Amino acid sequence: MAEGNGSAGAEKSATCVSCHGEHGNSMVATFPKLAQQHATYLEKQLLAFKNGTRKDPMMATIAKGLSEKDILDIAAYYEEQKISANALPKPEPDDDEDDDIPAQTEADIQKMLSQGADLYRNGDIAREVSACIACHGPTAEGNKPAGFPSLKSQHADYLIKTLTDFKNGNRSNNPDNMMVMIAKKMTLDEIKAVAYRISVM
Ligand code: HEM
Ligand code: HEM
Repeated sequence: MAEGNGSAGAEKSATCVSCHGEHGNSMVATFPKLAQQHATYLEKQLLAFKNGTRKDPMMATIAKGLSEKDILDIAAYYEEQKISANALPKPEPDDDEDDDIPAQTEADIQKMLSQGADLYRNGDIAREVSACIACHGPTAEGNKPAGFPSLKSQHADYLIKTLTDFKNGNRSNNPDNMMVMIAKKMTLDEIKAVAYRISVM
């Protein structure tokens, strides 16, 4: 595909700000940050929303209104933006004994982050869960020529949602999406641990 024009993209991205934030740094945990993401990956996802192979009601409407030139320009713009760091996930003490949500202490959070870091670096060979680092890289910035997206500082809630979509077959916008194979082998606890770890990389 041709190269987009980032300054044209800045103007065209005005309608994205309400959900994806200023400069693509969304402040809402279920709306992904787009800042610093590889333009080629953004183009691929926008085309998938446009042709319906990746399903999301909000993004379907938005993407249908974009021409191929708009997509190239907007993708170039977001790639040029700098992603903002996330704070460490906050422990959410929950001592309400009326519900069945287990209490979470600071120590629980640290344990979860270290499980996530181990999975990210080493995967789980016995269960054929590939190490994320192999494709998404040591700083989670991905590998643009290879088509591996950046995950760096992405919101944990979005990562959990999209990994669960891969696992359940709700996101598979190409016939043999390797993420589907990987996510199917992960438990929900592993998905959460790796998502929180990635969110603070
Ligand atoms: C996801 C672009 C406007 C809500 C995405 C993704 C892209 C994108 C590239 C995929 C991100 C990824 O895979 O990491 C844009 C652009 C917009 C726009 C270029 C403006 C032209 C909006 C608006 C909303 C919205 C206005 C809210 C009403 C969402 C949501 C997702 C998403 C909820 C996650 C979908 C999912 O879970 O699969 N957007 N967006 N976007 N966007 Fe937008
Ligand atoms: C996409 C996480 C391992 C290749 C993604 C996304 C997430 C993710 C969250 C979606 C990004 C977004 O929506 O912005 C992980 C985790 C891994 C892992 C947690 C380890 C457990 C791998 C490996 C490979 C890989 C080993 C290569 C063999 C890809 C590719 C995409 C992707 C190609 C884009 C898929 C698409 O276009 O829909 N990964 N990944 N990932 N990952 Fe991974």
